[in-house]
Amino acid sequence: MIRLDDRLRCALDMLRGSAAVADIGSDHGKLTVALLLEGGCRRVIPGDISPDCLQKTREIIEQCGLQDKAETRLGSGLSILSPGECDAAAILGMGGELMVELLEDSKAVAEAMDKLVLQPMSGIEELRQWLYENNWHVMVDRLIPVGCRWYQLLSVKKEDRPDPRPEGFPSGCWLVGYRSFADRELGLKPYCREQLEKRRERLMKAAGTAGEEKLAREAGQLEQILKEMEGWN
Ligand SMILES: C[S@@+](CC[C@H](N)C(=O)[O-])C[C@H]1O[C@@H](n2cnc3c(N)ncnc32)[C@H](O)[C@@H]1O
Repeated sequence: MIRLDDRLRCALDMLRGSAAVADIGSDHGKLTVALLLEGGCRRVIPGDISPDCLQKTREIIEQCGLQDKAETRLGSGLSILSPGECDAAAILGMGGELMVELLEDSKAVAEAMDKLVLQPMSGIEELRQWLYENNWHVMVDRLIPVGCRWYQLLSVKKEDRPDPRPEGFPSGCWLVGYRSFADRELGLKPYCREQLEKRRERLMKAAGTAGEEKLAREAGQLEQILKEMEGWN
């Protein structure tokens, strides 16, 4: 069994059972080998834009003796695949804006998949808004604490109509997922409390600055979500 932190384990669980998976930005290769050893996947295509990072993936594949099931490819994003080659892809540990670029660049490949598992390190709001505006439905949305930081993991699928948003979720809010709100995701309450606290602290120093309005809007959205959650068991 390969040692995974809770972030990678959550991604593995979201991808469990997919027959052929692309691991985009595979780097250390832990997810690639875990998908084959524990995830029930028959084939994995790990890709990375960096030759050095892809070499790390090759090494762990060889250590695990999985060369016949994992085919490494050098290149950017989903451009290493043809449509229908994989049922699912993981794109973890990159910026949300870069993820949008990669999905825009390889629409046919992305849209042919049953699911994409995304874990943005930054630009989460930009990614969430783009997904919503382009009819990507959020099937599962998790908030995972690892050490002193939270990670947001989304499993999404392209549809031909907008994703219905739950009642009570603030309109125009992309800080957290409406699916995690609808599903009463365990991490949502502590995450929102922490984020609200941070915004209140920043607001005290931001009076009269350009960032004040955005901080105030976000604090209001977080307050609304926390208020809605008060009635939850
Ligand atoms: C921080 S690591 C994340 C590794 C792993 N996915 C994880 O989440 O633990 C980011 C990886 O993405 C790769 N990367 C960055 N831009 C990329 C792109 N456009 N296409 C493919 N890989 C990319 C980097 O070379 C690096 O290996």
